[in-house]
Amino acid sequence: MTVSTLSVAAAPRDLALSDFTVVGVPMMEASDAGAPEAVPGLPGHVGGIAVPERLDPEWAKGRGFSARPGETVVLAAAPGSPTLIGLGMGKGEGLGVGVGGTAELDRERWRRGAAALVRSSGNGVPVMVLPARRLERAAEVASAVVEGATLAAYRFDPYRKPDERTGVERFLIAGGDGGEELAAGIRYGREVAAAVCFARDLVNTPPGDLTPARLAETVAEALSQCSRTRVEVWDEARIAKERLGALLGVARGSAEPPRLIWASYEPQGGSLVTPHVALVGKGITFDSGGLSLKTADGMTTMKTDMSGAAAVMATIKACAALDISARVTAIAPATENMPGGRAIKPGDVLTARNGSTIEVLNTDAEGRLILADALSLATELQPDAIIDVATLTGAAVVALGRSIGALFGTDDVLIRRLRDAATRAGEPLWQLPLPEQYADHIDSEIADMKNVGKQGEAGSIVAALLLAKFTGKIPWAHLDIAGPARATETSGYLTKGGTGFGVRTLIELLLDLQPTATLSSRH
Ligand code: BES
Ligand code: MN
Ligand code: ZN
Repeated sequence: MTVSTLSVAAAPRDLALSDFTVVGVPMMEASDAGAPEAVPGLPGHVGGIAVPERLDPEWAKGRGFSARPGETVVLAAAPGSPTLIGLGMGKGEGLGVGVGGTAELDRERWRRGAAALVRSSGNGVPVMVLPARRLERAAEVASAVVEGATLAAYRFDPYRKPDERTGVERFLIAGGDGGEELAAGIRYGREVAAAVCFARDLVNTPPGDLTPARLAETVAEALSQCSRTRVEVWDEARIAKERLGALLGVARGSAEPPRLIWASYEPQGGSLVTPHVALVGKGITFDSGGLSLKTADGMTTMKTDMSGAAAVMATIKACAALDISARVTAIAPATENMPGGRAIKPGDVLTARNGSTIEVLNTDAEGRLILADALSLATELQPDAIIDVATLTGAAVVALGRSIGALFGTDDVLIRRLRDAATRAGEPLWQLPLPEQYADHIDSEIADMKNVGKQGEAGSIVAALLLAKFTGKIPWAHLDIAGPARATETSGYLTKGGTGFGVRTLIELLLDLQPTATLSSRH
């Protein structure tokens, strides 16, 4: 497995432009229907060539460039910008890069701008120009640029011939305050992007190569490089000994043995008031549906069904590097869901770790089963909050599409913190309710509950209501990422395939937790 990373650095003061340089000039939408303008405070010169301050309105309009985030325009022929014309004549290229309407800080605009610059640079070397005068929160702008660039440059190519591997390999940032803020922002952006790329690599690896055992090994190997981080992997015998009956039940139909991955991070100088967050991620390395078999089409993308596990483990990978000050535990139950001869059958009853029994009426609703065990374990730790991440229901894709994740939870403070974190991270979440009226949808005739509700009715909500039964009184939130876990097209900083959705939100949430932070409304 290779973790794809772009090499990102601050450009040297004496940057020499070459044929391969693409200089990205961030531009803002005009407020007065005039011409797009360069973001204020850019350096006057890059590599000896002047940077334009504004574009001719008619010219920009003619090229359909209004500087919305992600739009680009080649500047070589721009009238009134004598400046970058030289670049067009065999000295690389100048590119106007839209970052949207206002100068106000919005990291998502910078991610999208940097991604557009990378995607317009072929095999060249993009250079993003940042404001030179002291920008407020310069580090955040720099980190967003690094994230957007690195994620756009991401390719999953270990299964291709080496000579078919192409794309941007180096990315430079010119200007900025040139000092510590810029360096800190670059470092932060690199770590975040590396974590997201790690999750993407796990998701994109074919299911025959990323079995539960291989997933556990790969995660353990990656985390062994991280300080203050520990990993433990439970094999089938340990899983049985720990009475994880739901995970064992799902694994019965598969020739591959299950695993449970347990990772933990201890901050430097932790104390009794250090907040403890437990993360739980769904790790179905392939979901055939089991005996309630999916259609051929329905299972083509089901290697993606371990995206939750990938997200929580990638988050742990970033904790030490970012010096997170919370305690973090991540638990990922991992198994295939297959229809082998020993598979559980519709009508079977499984007993979860907390003693609750679940009647399995549809073996394709397997995620909630393995999460029942993992959430029980997390609850026993009595953390300040539990957050699970799962590609849980097709109904979440129907409700919110492929760009927005569904958010559920039992605690207003935790929900608010997660929504704010998601906004900063550029990973939109929309809250859905946990209504008591639907509790009886999972009443079973013979067990404590059944694993499916009523066909076609509130599928994502009913799944979340089942999970809630395993979290006791601990503040809990659930992210159903069935939609955004996989991109169906390459666009912006997403590359077709696994997206690593959830990693940036979890990191943002954890960064926000000072040692005495309140995570719950029950204080
Ligand atoms: N892994 C799927 C959910 C899924 C579907 C994720 C599409 C991504 C894209 C999950 O295990 C599943 O099969 N859920 C069923 C539940 C149903 C049987 C109650 C579903 O959504 O159809
Ligand atoms: Mn399923
Ligand atoms: Zn599944």
